[in-house]
Amino acid sequence: MNKKTVKDIDVKGKKVLVRCDFNVPLKDGKITDNTRITAALPTIKYLMENGAKVILCSHLGRPKGEVKLEFSLKPVADELARLLNTDVKFATDIVGESAKEVTSSLNDGEVALLENVRFDSREEKNDDTLSTELASLCDGIYVNDAFGTAHRAHSSTEGVSHHVNEAVAGFLMEKEITFLNGTLEHPEKPFAAILGGAKVSDKIGVIENLLKKVDEILIGGGMAYTFLKAKGYEIGNSLCEEDKIEEAKTIMKKAEEAGVKLVLPVDTAVAPVQTEVDDTLDKKAKQKAFFDFLENSEEKVVDSDKIEAGWQGCDIGPRTAEVFAKELEGKKTILWNGPLGICEIAKFSVGTEKVAEAIANIECTSIVGGGDSVAAIKKLGLEDKFTHISTGGGASLELLEGKALPGLVCLSDK
Ligand code: 3PG
Repeated sequence: MNKKTVKDIDVKGKKVLVRCDFNVPLKDGKITDNTRITAALPTIKYLMENGAKVILCSHLGRPKGEVKLEFSLKPVADELARLLNTDVKFATDIVGESAKEVTSSLNDGEVALLENVRFDSREEKNDDTLSTELASLCDGIYVNDAFGTAHRAHSSTEGVSHHVNEAVAGFLMEKEITFLNGTLEHPEKPFAAILGGAKVSDKIGVIENLLKKVDEILIGGGMAYTFLKAKGYEIGNSLCEEDKIEEAKTIMKKAEEAGVKLVLPVDTAVAPVQTEVDDTLDKKAKQKAFFDFLENSEEKVVDSDKIEAGWQGCDIGPRTAEVFAKELEGKKTILWNGPLGICEIAKFSVGTEKVAEAIANIECTSIVGGGDSVAAIKKLGLEDKFTHISTGGGASLELLEGKALPGLVCLSDK
């Protein structure tokens, strides 16, 4: 990585503003997965040990510029205090009285966390006044360690960098960029990518970019059905982006021309379509009702070209899991983004888990991104068998698409 990091600057006795991605899942006010917090510890500890006064900031969820206490970062402050075994001062605002008081009372080696930056409507607008106010909390040093949010040009991820003397990367940012970019630029061959997730539209840019780099692409998850339909297969009531069928055809043609093998599911675990949908429910409640329905639904495995009307594909089938495992054998680099089934439902997370197990047994550089595939790896306790597990969802996708990340571009070059 050609960007300066915390190691390139002197932080002793200085107030340093650090943007982290503490956007962690919460249930009833409790953190259910602290991966993003533990991933930020190396930078925080380094700054503490080197005598900085550490001011952390982050977003959590999408409160849309309003103070919504269910999105408060207080649980994160408590978790950080537990992990660091030290007091973490918590500011109840972002750049207001509480933030000023807390940050100005910090001693060398102490840590403070500001409240959710997205409680301020200026954050997502990358408003210059907020960027200036954030910068004024520190002594001209900004560290961006929020890889997961580096694709957003917001005040705390981009704007603030223009109002400080030093804008550098943290260790997590450095590690993510080194693994993801390094792998894409100089992969050891043969190189395979596995792509899943619900929508083709989210992955078109990624596939286009990967076609120039990989030997093989395996496609599963909801996005596979648009490709299967493009091949003229019967996909029943499976998820399909009708307006992307032509693009799917083009991608398949381009893959053939580029000599990239594109592998689609040969069989599919299906469930009946949910016929009774309560339209009065909001999006979240509808999703819950859908999962409850699937949990109790019938299921069967059918060939991927013969999904009957009234049925929908929910996971890759067992033969596909075997085909994918076979295709992956001997690969030196494997990149995986997105689940291969509806992992919220145990019976439809089998395909994703089988593929996780297959990769874990292959000697290769393996890089994984995206919440559900990572969750499957963790559930199976296979974290140590993977070379790099990315903390970024959207950010890693944009990087894989070959896009520049504003939160990285704004940092000083070495
Ligand atoms: C993520 O979880 O992908 C990041 O924290 C970014 O969150 P956002 O999509 O709400 O910007």
